[in-house]
Amino acid sequence: MASSSAAVPVTAKHSDAEGYEMPWVEKYRPILLGDIVGNSDTVDRLKVIAEDGNMPHIIISGLPGIGKTTSIHCLAHALLGSAYREGVLELNASDERGIDVVRNKIKSFAQRKVTLPPGRHKIVILDEADSMTAGAQQALRRTMEIYSNTTRFALACNMSNKIIEPIQSRCAILRYSKLRDAEVLKRLEEICAAEKVEYNDQGLQALIFTAEGDMRQAINNLQSTWSGFGFVSQDNVFKICDQPHPVQVRKMIKSCQAGDINAALEVINKLWDQGYSAVDIVVTVFRVVKGLDDLPEYTKLEFIREVGWTHMRVLEGVGTIVQLGGMIARLCRMSIPPEMLKL
Ligand SMILES: Nc1ncnc2c1ncn2[C@@H]1O[C@H](COP(=O)(O)OP(=O)(O)OP(=O)(O)O)[C@@H](O)[C@H]1O
Ligand SMILES: [Mg+2]
Repeated sequence: MASSSAAVPVTAKHSDAEGYEMPWVEKYRPILLGDIVGNSDTVDRLKVIAEDGNMPHIIISGLPGIGKTTSIHCLAHALLGSAYREGVLELNASDERGIDVVRNKIKSFAQRKVTLPPGRHKIVILDEADSMTAGAQQALRRTMEIYSNTTRFALACNMSNKIIEPIQSRCAILRYSKLRDAEVLKRLEEICAAEKVEYNDQGLQALIFTAEGDMRQAINNLQSTWSGFGFVSQDNVFKICDQPHPVQVRKMIKSCQAGDINAALEVINKLWDQGYSAVDIVVTVFRVVKGLDDLPEYTKLEFIREVGWTHMRVLEGVGTIVQLGGMIARLCRMSIPPEMLKL
């Protein structure tokens, strides 16, 4: 949100006349299926369903912030048009969705008579369906069948394995994958142009790096950086996202590649002193190594393996600076000629 706190005077000019600015994730939530970025094959299937009008029960599953809820709403709008208000029942994780709700609320909606465009069905949207109890899902089984001539179900979830098998078998399952960097970048550029945001390319790259294919996070971080600093640059983004700075981590990896343990340890100590946890550091090291193009393939594989082991040990509970030092030592060791290690 745009704030006009005295500590960051640059922000004052960004709050609009009413002093209230909508979160950009909502302001730029696509309304038409055609506006959804990425996953083009799956979105094309939804477009076919929208044209055909005979919607099957569907489950859309995938990681957070990639357009599942948005897609279902776009589909419902495309199918029902002005009848959307009467023709859609939306229940999400913030509503009570136990067995009683399935038995009463959903059932009475399914039985209700509403006027819809010809050939269309009422739609029950069950967002975050993986948080429904197995009991409630069981109660849904027969309801889905009995009323299927008038009512269709659209479920969105992060993990499709949390949806019981019998429901999965009644639905067409659409899987959304993480958005590609170029797709997120394009959307961010569009929003920057619409909001007249000042940015440089490294700033947008930093947003993409921190969001990891999550469009919601990318847009939120863009808005926070712009309203907090008035310019989207790499440094400002990392101040907002508060992750170990990848430029420093890259420097550390380069030192490891050169076998310079002192330089590498210096960076780790600095990050540690800044208060980052071992997990923060290891995860950033992994992501930087993965994206480092000038590291030979073989070295990259070896580095990733070593970082993976350290991640496991950290998760097992040994998240100390000594553990990180051990990782650095092993990374450096890979670059030292073997004959020098024989003592
Ligand atoms: N594919 C996309 N194209 C355009 N905007 C997107 C896309 N995905 C997400 N967004 C943006 O992110 C916001 C959140 O998206 P959405 O609610 O659809 O996420 P979700 O996949 O349902 O996530 P969750 O699993 O957390 O519910 C949208 O309001 C929109 O601004
Ligand atoms: Mg959602």
